[in-house]
Amino acid sequence: MALVRTGVALDSDLLKRFDRLLHSEGYANRSEAFRDLIRDRLNDASLQGGEVFVVGAVTLIYDHQSRLLPDKLMELQHKYHSVIISTVHSHLDHEMCLEVVVVKGPTDQVQELGNRLIGLKGIQHGKLVMSSPEAYGRKPARHAGHSDHHHKH
Ligand code: NI
Repeated sequence: MALVRTGVALDSDLLKRFDRLLHSEGYANRSEAFRDLIRDRLNDASLQGGEVFVVGAVTLIYDHQSRLLPDKLMELQHKYHSVIISTVHSHLDHEMCLEVVVVKGPTDQVQELGNRLIGLKGIQHGKLVMSSPEAYGRKPARHAGHSDHHHKH
């Protein structure tokens, strides 16, 4: 991809604060930091429409002894099987579990599943992270489990 140079006018105080932030985050230069900011905003913007295709993950922390919670988690995941690629379960200690549900599908369905999982009684911490391949100029696959492009890995 061709690189294009562009100039941005900023007040010096804002730029100073930005430089401090990118230094603390380990950026080698401003350009890379600007690119990341722009990608992040494009990603957020393209997640607005319900029909946009996204990939992501729902991370859940909970105590497996919470009444009915493991059953409800299982039931919801079967209900939304069409947007779930896989689930990773990790037993953190005698009580606590970490479950990561990998998702792929239209934003509205993925968001709905995320909200329902995170909202279950007994979930101590939950977070949905979504990324839109369209924000990076990728051609999206429209259905979970289908892609118009095959590759080995
Ligand atoms: Ni567990």
